[in-house]
Amino acid sequence: MRSATLAALLFPSLAAAGPLDGLERTLASIVDCASCHAALPTFKSIAHLGDAAFVKTITAACIDMQIEDRDVCEGAIRTQGPILAHDLRHFALGGQTATRFCDAVFGMCTPPPVNEYTVPFPRPPPERPARFRSAGRPPFRVMHFSDVHIDRQYTVGAEANCTKPICCRDYDGRPKHVNAPALPLGNRHCDTPTKLVDSMLQAVERFGADARFSLFTGDVIDHAVWEVSEVGVSRDMQTFSDQMAARLNAPLFPALGNHESAPTNSFPRNTTEHEINSEWVFNAQRASWAQWIGEEATDQIRHHSGSYAAMAPGTNLRIISVNTQYWYKQNFWLYDSDDLQPDPNGILAFLVQELQAAEDAGQRAWIIAHMPPGRGDVAHDQSSYFDQVIQRYKNTIAGQFYGHTHADEFAIGYSNYSDRSAATAMSIAMIGPALTPMSGNPAFKMYDIDPDTYEIMDARTYITNVSDPNYHLHPTWELLYSARDSYGALVPALAPNASLSPAFWHNLTEVFYKNDSAFQAYIAHKPRGREFVRRPCVGACKNGTLCEMRTLRSGVCATASGPVFRLPGGHAQFTTELESCEGHGIGHIVRGLLAKLSPQAGQKANVEPVPQNDDHSQAVLWV
Ligand SMILES: *[C@@H]1O[C@H](CO)[C@@H](O)[C@H](O)[C@H]1NC(C)=O
Ligand SMILES: *[C@@H]1O[C@H](CO)[C@@H](O)[C@H](O)[C@H]1NC(C)=O
Ligand SMILES: *[C@@H]1O[C@H](CO)[C@@H](O)[C@H](O)[C@H]1NC(C)=O
Ligand SMILES: *[C@@H]1O[C@H](CO)[C@@H](O)[C@H](O)[C@H]1NC(C)=O
Ligand SMILES: *[C@@H]1O[C@H](CO)[C@@H](O)[C@H](O)[C@H]1NC(C)=O
Ligand SMILES: *[C@@H]1O[C@H](CO)[C@@H](O)[C@H](O)[C@H]1NC(C)=O
Ligand SMILES: *[C@@H]1O[C@H](CO)[C@@H](O)[C@H](O)[C@H]1NC(C)=O
Ligand SMILES: *[C@@H]1O[C@H](CO)[C@@H](O)[C@H](O)[C@H]1NC(C)=O
Repeated sequence: MRSATLAALLFPSLAAAGPLDGLERTLASIVDCASCHAALPTFKSIAHLGDAAFVKTITAACIDMQIEDRDVCEGAIRTQGPILAHDLRHFALGGQTATRFCDAVFGMCTPPPVNEYTVPFPRPPPERPARFRSAGRPPFRVMHFSDVHIDRQYTVGAEANCTKPICCRDYDGRPKHVNAPALPLGNRHCDTPTKLVDSMLQAVERFGADARFSLFTGDVIDHAVWEVSEVGVSRDMQTFSDQMAARLNAPLFPALGNHESAPTNSFPRNTTEHEINSEWVFNAQRASWAQWIGEEATDQIRHHSGSYAAMAPGTNLRIISVNTQYWYKQNFWLYDSDDLQPDPNGILAFLVQELQAAEDAGQRAWIIAHMPPGRGDVAHDQSSYFDQVIQRYKNTIAGQFYGHTHADEFAIGYSNYSDRSAATAMSIAMIGPALTPMSGNPAFKMYDIDPDTYEIMDARTYITNVSDPNYHLHPTWELLYSARDSYGALVPALAPNASLSPAFWHNLTEVFYKNDSAFQAYIAHKPRGREFVRRPCVGACKNGTLCEMRTLRSGVCATASGPVFRLPGGHAQFTTELESCEGHGIGHIVRGLLAKLSPQAGQKANVEPVPQNDDHSQAVLWV
């Protein structure tokens, strides 16, 4: 009934005063999951008028409500809006896809329960699994960097205190008076200047002169999502690869980020019928990565939608690089059909194929990807099926490496989520840190790896301190901490020659519960020692953060946990359960509209305003 009323409100106005009033009224009516469903007929009706009408209406609301600058509204909605319109024309009212759409776009519904699906495995687990034993040989080194978000238009002297999601660009020429001129090596409100990338690559090469190889876990492209283009993304991917090739001697194994597309986050499934497709992204990957990953892996990128596997040189270690974008809630193509697709584009099947090959060959494997598979921004179905894969091949998988959250953190996978203990801890994921100064001190990681087990013996985080008075003249890179030194001392059961195993990390979380100063030190490491003004993370925040450390499966913390400590990915004024890396696309705009038009909805979605950031008083976002 309610939806009929809303549509009636809308349609006379479509003919007369334009649909803006109707749209804003409809948005204001959305306060929970049920009212979100009730509002969908209105959005569907606008979508049925065509992409142009849909884009025009949402853009008008974005500008009218001053969610972003006019050009940001226009660009983000012009590029991403047609995907939402396509969805709205294709999914049925009241179904699972509609619920998921309300969750991803409006932040209003909890995702539907996981649909049962048994991932097919070629063989049952071996009766006598291979045992990988350390011979106590010296470890080798691996470097890891992520979320570089390079702004090739970064301009020294441009305004760093602007009204857009990222600054330090002369958007419409240089203003007469510049408040805060951009300095050479970046700013809290800006993405990474080319000079900072070069400084990091030199430091990676210096500290990791003897490194066996490097990992890059994605997000090359800047956060100016309203301006991205296919040409720009392809060119920037190639430029970064050229820059890495010039600086790094060791081979590199990269993974694809959600920003490596235009529109941002756009990865249509192979079932989607639309002129937009991702072939050009995979071509850009192949062109820029072939030099490191070899011919076979380069060919896999084409056939497995951006994923590949390759043996690390001189090892018995298979590196499996997975494109996680088909599991990312902010990839709005996932809502363009009511058909359940347990494994869009066969990414899980590819992962299983490669893990089985590793098991058959007596190898160990690492999974590298952009998005950690156990957070709130991952589709619950695919996260749960990914968990099945990890359970099946837990003996083969020696490590997992991700980015996307920008924070320096870790997450543990368990064989029994009803009993998360040292005995059931079975997998460890290293996450982040980012290079972009938006989310803390620019940083990268270095691992010591046992050459027989391929397990992690130590993880060190290196930073350059943006608050150092000499930073812009001469950035210095230094060790922030060694996990073995800082955390190992807190877990007495860790033998000097033992790896930092899943059980070790679990025991560390036990210490964090009891020893708050140890936990607060971990929290300080997330933005890599950058001094954000923050409330201490205690009570519900501590519970939620610890719960998140103890899962590689999304949904585990949804009900029990509280807010979670997160880093800002930009000038975000609001945050929801979504991770910071989503950027200022249409999802952000729609939730901004909701927060303004429907204050009740703002509370529901856990949207909380954050104090204005500037270089003297940074804020940490709370969910
Ligand atoms: C940034 O801009 C805002 C609004 O224009 C102004 O109030 C503030 O003082 C500026 N901050 C700096 C550091 O220039
Ligand atoms: C999509 O990809 C899956 C997995 O690779 C494959 O089985 C399926 O046939 C593909 N569908 C289309 C329409 O190409
Ligand atoms: C998982 O843990 C719960 C709680 O301790 C226990 O009841 C259950 O039997 C365990 N499941 C398996 C498969 O071990
Ligand atoms: C550590 O060293 C001890 C004593 O040499 C040995 O018994 C044990 O197997 C080693 N452990 C590992 C994980 O290498
Ligand atoms: C973790 O804690 C368990 C139970 O207290 C203990 O048995 C185990 O040795 C510890 N392992 C490590 C690596 O700390
Ligand atoms: C608690 O952690 C701190 C490190 O932050 C450490 O210095 C201290 O010794 C720990 N306390 C106990 C009782 O283990
Ligand atoms: C960064 O530099 C500032 C200013 O010198 C200093 O106060 C701060 O402690 C440094 N941070 C780290 C993590 O070293
Ligand atoms: C945190 O978790 C503990 C135990 O899991 C619980 O007793 C406590 O009430 C929680 N605190 C908050 C503030 O949620």
